Amino acid sequence: MDSDGGREQRYFFRYLIRAVALFTLVTLACLVLFNQTAATRSQFQFLTSSFSFSSHAGNEELLGLEELLKKAAMPDNTVILSPLNEAWIEKGSIFDLFLESFRIGNQTIGLLKHLLVVALDQKAFDHCLGLHLNCYFLKTQGVDFSAEAGYMSTDYLKMVWRKIDFLRTILETGYSFVFTDADIMWLRNPFPQFYPDTNFQVSCDKFRGNPFDLNNAPNTGLMYVKSSNQTIEFFKFWYKSREIYSAKHDQDALNMLKHDPFLREIGFQFKFLDTAYFGGFCQPSKNLNLVHTMHANCCAGLDNKIHDLKILLQDWSSYTSLPENERDSHPPSWTVPQSCG
Ligand SMILES: *[C@@H]1O[C@H](CO)[C@@H](O)[C@H](O)[C@H]1NC(C)=O
Ligand SMILES: *[C@@H]1O[C@H](CO)[C@@H](O)[C@H](O)[C@H]1NC(C)=O
Repeated sequence: MDSDGGREQRYFFRYLIRAVALFTLVTLACLVLFNQTAATRSQFQFLTSSFSFSSHAGNEELLGLEELLKKAAMPDNTVILSPLNEAWIEKGSIFDLFLESFRIGNQTIGLLKHLLVVALDQKAFDHCLGLHLNCYFLKTQGVDFSAEAGYMSTDYLKMVWRKIDFLRTILETGYSFVFTDADIMWLRNPFPQFYPDTNFQVSCDKFRGNPFDLNNAPNTGLMYVKSSNQTIEFFKFWYKSREIYSAKHDQDALNMLKHDPFLREIGFQFKFLDTAYFGGFCQPSKNLNLVHTMHANCCAGLDNKIHDLKILLQDWSSYTSLPENERDSHPPSWTVPQSCG
């Protein structure tokens, strides 16, 4: 009992830190971009250009990555990236449910060959290889993520930032990506539903109805980023923002972004995904005829997540086994969240 409770608590803290870190990233990135409004153009250019020299990846590492990207990519050079760490690989855990969703989703199984799992520790990497998936081991210099303590400390944040830097590398290599957390169930192929006219779209905890409204609360659980000069600049900038971290930040900064000349200058624009199609426990998509992905967000505790995601997949299976006319005319709704939220 004791050790179970301790483990669950650790998982919860990991998740919490992760969620807070990701949230902070977006907010900070926005804040930094906003602050730059007051700066001169040349300062901005200095900031971003000084970055070209900061790649962590050695040549050998980069070659291995390029090979994997080539293997996993769709014809239009897009890969699906999912991070994986030790906590999510246990039997019946999040990652099993994630893979299961591709199997029972509608026309999603074929997407698995385009999935590149980004393992953050050795155990996750070995597990991934054992499943015959495309696996990349994202190492972070001087950080041992197999050590339990790693997740609680600044080491964990290092890894989070490493990920942003890594995503920039992917874009620079010429590949576009859909980044997905493994607690997002893929129930329909999202590509036909993505906005065709933007190079940065992100899922939300709460969607307010307008895809450009910066009051939407992005969660970065699902990000579709097309390789372009704008997105590369944005990810450099995002990464750079870790140096200007200040304890005080305000989500309102996000709202100011739409007026930020620097975003316009580099031609960068946020576009927010509708929770009716890309839902989650924060704001469940009610119509199962529309839903493409479902995220176990707004959920504290790994066991609660697993509990509700299992039911979610059962809900989906019941729905898909209904006769088509009944599905279309009277689609049932989710019976979750239960333990979550
Ligand atoms: C970036 O801009 C340059 C020059 O405008 C162009 O040649 C190149 O294709 C662009 N790269 C991407 C990834 O869009
Ligand atoms: C699955 O996709 C096919 C082809 O688009 C469609 O005919 C069918 O109704 C879909 N099933 C569900 C459950 O959405």
